[in-house]
Amino acid sequence: MTDIKIKITDREGVTHEVDAPTDMNMNLMEVVRSYELAPEGTIGICGGMAMCASCQCYVESDHELPEKSDDEEAMLSEAFNVKDNSRLGCQIHMTPELDGLKVELAPEEM
Ligand code: FES
Repeated sequence: MTDIKIKITDREGVTHEVDAPTDMNMNLMEVVRSYELAPEGTIGICGGMAMCASCQCYVESDHELPEKSDDEEAMLSEAFNVKDNSRLGCQIHMTPELDGLKVELAPEEM
């Protein structure tokens, strides 16, 4: 059993509980894309390089996440709609510790 369950609230406010594999080196942005929870072209624009903030999400559960990298920190300081619990989805890797994670996708940046 290498899947974890995570809850993702999409930009329409609908919450989806999805299974995410922890053995495929996937990040949260890729999980959102694989379940098509955000329209193509609105998430993961930079391909997961911490350079676009299209994958920004709000972490609602109290999981211990790895510290932000300098790149993530810098990108979030320029992004819109940033909250205290904002993270870049592409920088959150799926690991067994994240079972039960709950996140909400940040609004699309215009
Ligand atoms: S996909 Fe661009 S910052 Fe995450």
